[in-house]
Amino acid sequence: MSRHRWAAGLVAPEPGERLLEIGYGPGLTAASVLEHLGDGRLLGVDRSAKMAAAAARRNARAVAEGRAEFRVGDWPPVPQLSGPAFDKAYAFNVRLLWTDADAVTAVRRVLAPGGSLYVFLQLPPPSGPQLDAVAAQAERTLDEAGFRAAGVDRDGECLCVRGRRA
Ligand SMILES: C[S@@+](CC[C@H](N)C(=O)[O-])C[C@H]1O[C@@H](n2cnc3c(N)ncnc32)[C@H](O)[C@@H]1O
Repeated sequence: MSRHRWAAGLVAPEPGERLLEIGYGPGLTAASVLEHLGDGRLLGVDRSAKMAAAAARRNARAVAEGRAEFRVGDWPPVPQLSGPAFDKAYAFNVRLLWTDADAVTAVRRVLAPGGSLYVFLQLPPPSGPQLDAVAAQAERTLDEAGFRAAGVDRDGECLCVRGRRA
């Protein structure tokens, strides 16, 4: 299974949900997520216009149907997105999501109460002890940003640290 499908399985999108992806890159995780999102909506934010074009091309049908939007911009966004607007947020291989509590706090602000954040990353092998250290760092960052710990998942070199908004 690809890391993108693995991530989509953990996000477990349900029809009607409002999702936020930070740093979507070429839109591969988004493509897997959109397969299960039904009439829900996905908003992506990435600072790269080149990635926005690639992600929109890859997910052209969902964009045309109004189910996905790939925005160009920095996270955290200025001005703030109006919130709370999302049921779930996720990011794959976007370093500031496990290192920068201000960036993670900005995610919490736009999540609905009870909403979840999924921080995914993949390290080059062999990643064993380093993956443990990054998991601990991510848990500290989410805690500092006001998230409740909701579990850690692993698959080979991939890690997912989950937090829930109180
Ligand atoms: C390593 S790539 C990962 C892309 C994709 N998530 C994946 O796993 O294939 C990191 C992406 O995050 C974006 N990014 C990094 N920092 C960002 C920030 N502060 N605001 C918005 N986008 C950011 C980059 O432009 C890039 O597309």
